[in-house]
Amino acid sequence: MANEPLNIVDKRTKATYDVPFFKGAVRAMDLRQIKTGPEDFGLMTYDPAFMNTASCQSAITFIDGDKGILRYRGYPIEQLAEKCTFLEVAYLVLFGELPTTTELKDWVATITHHTMIHETTKKFLEGFRHDAHPMGMFISTVAALSTVYPDARNVLNAEARKLQIERLIGKVPTIAAYTYRHSLGYPYIYPDNDLSYTENFMNMLWKMVEPKYQANAALARALDILFILHADHEQNCSANVMRAVGSSQADPFMATAAAAAALSGPLHGGANEEVLKMLDEIGSKDKVPAYIERIKAGHGKLMGFGHRIYKNYDPRARIIKWAADQVFAVTGRNPKLEIALELERIALEDEYFIKRKLYPNVDFYSGIMYQAMGFRPEMFTVLFAIPRTVGWLAQWQEMIQDPEQKIARPRQIYIGHDVRDFVPMEMRGVHASPLRP
Ligand code: CMC
Repeated sequence: MANEPLNIVDKRTKATYDVPFFKGAVRAMDLRQIKTGPEDFGLMTYDPAFMNTASCQSAITFIDGDKGILRYRGYPIEQLAEKCTFLEVAYLVLFGELPTTTELKDWVATITHHTMIHETTKKFLEGFRHDAHPMGMFISTVAALSTVYPDARNVLNAEARKLQIERLIGKVPTIAAYTYRHSLGYPYIYPDNDLSYTENFMNMLWKMVEPKYQANAALARALDILFILHADHEQNCSANVMRAVGSSQADPFMATAAAAAALSGPLHGGANEEVLKMLDEIGSKDKVPAYIERIKAGHGKLMGFGHRIYKNYDPRARIIKWAADQVFAVTGRNPKLEIALELERIALEDEYFIKRKLYPNVDFYSGIMYQAMGFRPEMFTVLFAIPRTVGWLAQWQEMIQDPEQKIARPRQIYIGHDVRDFVPMEMRGVHASPLRP
């Protein structure tokens, strides 16, 4: 039974085909043999938005969306969030095993020594308008790193790849902090090598004239946990972009910028900013039922709710709720929490959301916590991009090393005109076309 193939009968031709199973799936290329005749191209699958297509084999992240399970390299996210630092998890995600004491010490030292950005990159950032969106500045500046490190094009060389990975993980907090300082017109703060990854990020964000920045330990730990939760999430929209761009052998700075661009959309990482806008729009707890009715009537979506894979509570949202409480113990409670809790309570009891299995996702509570820490909503997606850089790079590295991967190039089903003769200008009439401006 284990080795039995999938038997397909094509009723058009009465032909039968044995298609072997591959790890519980079938290879789409095995369907190409199904033809109506020699002229037939062969059977393709049609799957807009990749609803049922595995694009790769991956050993990085496991999600069981029905059970609400998330694991990096086999370790449950709850255990990693409780027991690890972000850089320890980054090492695990990238290299497959938790680091030993020496490995972690070396890894932290390496990343710490890659946090500076070239002065010309700093000047490049100065060219943005003061009100430029931080995510736009972040994406452009990450892409600009490609001009500083031409050796990054050497993507088939393992040593060169490792160096770019270290550079990117070291530099993304610096770029993120500089976008923030730029918006405020504050001078940029250089990295401080005495501090941990998240403490140093806080230093570059918030240090003013004090000689040494002292990060609040509880806030630094909460940020570290948030970074752990955001490190990877298997083949999501931005990871797929990272792999697709990387598959052309573009350098990892270019590919990471493209992945960050995918993240910026409101249906993906941009949702955390949208959640805060939504809570502002609702205004108070008593207005929640009316807002939910509007959503059910088809006016917009409940931001921070729903997920392509999770059809159960997003395990990250549960941990964020806990981390948010640690933050509120220091900063005081964010008044928006009341509205968010009420939204969650009503939505989880409502037939519309129950039927569609819509639960709070990672973005629902993260913004409330970030705002309490002092971040403006425009920064929220940048805070997602910093740790997700680790996941993108792990996905990229795995893709480059996979002998089955080639340049990503989907097929299409052509639905346009059949061949037709060119029409001279004087003979053209106005035809109704959805493409006409
Ligand atoms: N509010 C109201 N209805 C929703 C929502 C929502 N947030 N999400 C999905 N639905 C409805 C949707 O209208 C559809 O209803 P129907 O069957 O009547 O047409 C049904 O649920 C299935 O939704 P879908 O759009 O087919 O699901 P999808 O897997 O294509 O989309 C999603 C997943 C995350 C894009 C979507 O749930 C959404 O837009 N959520 C709001 C944005 C958000 O919070 N995004 C962050 C995702 S988690 C972090 C990350 O990965 O970036």
